[in-house]
Amino acid sequence: MNNHLENPTQFFNSLNGSLSGGQIVHSKTCIADMAGYYHNESARSSLDQAKIVYRVAAHFAEKPGTTGGLFFGISTVFPGLVGQEYFMTKGHFHAIRNRSEYYWCIQGEGVLIFMDEDGNCYAEKLQQGSLHYIPRKVAHRLANTGNEPLVVGACWPSDAGHDYTTITQLGFSIRLLNIDGQPQLQKVR
Ligand code: PA5
Ligand code: NI
Repeated sequence: MNNHLENPTQFFNSLNGSLSGGQIVHSKTCIADMAGYYHNESARSSLDQAKIVYRVAAHFAEKPGTTGGLFFGISTVFPGLVGQEYFMTKGHFHAIRNRSEYYWCIQGEGVLIFMDEDGNCYAEKLQQGSLHYIPRKVAHRLANTGNEPLVVGACWPSDAGHDYTTITQLGFSIRLLNIDGQPQLQKVR
């Protein structure tokens, strides 16, 4: 037995959601990367293409694709609009469809939009401390409806993968729009 106590190598700041330490991968998604995701493509193409829509920091303790492991990530969606549509993540199904996920809201305000494989959508409000279960076979997208960054934690199976193609082809059947200053869901098909 090794009776030496190891120091932790990763840290999660529960106040602002920041992750630090080893095996943390940071990524950012800009307006330029969101071509084809917003309802109003001409509004998207007229914005500053370098503007960051969201960032993700994730702890990958396993090789992606490994069965039986977990990943842990923090997504930060910045406030903003593309036309009337709130800044949001691309949204995805898991590549292995029967993989589920937890999201929880650390900071900010927003909406989590779900869509099943038949295109049926529903949505839940995100507020500090709220916990959200994403069932298997359900696509998921975050949208920031506030004036502050929306910070959301996530934990998902390391073999789940991300399928964005189905979303670029089909889109979500509901959109979250800012109508007269208020978030409103609109059916688009
Ligand atoms: O695994 C998840 O569901 C999250 O970590 C998302 O990947 C993250 O919120 C970014 O969203 P998307 O992958 O839809 O661009
Ligand atoms: Ni996911």
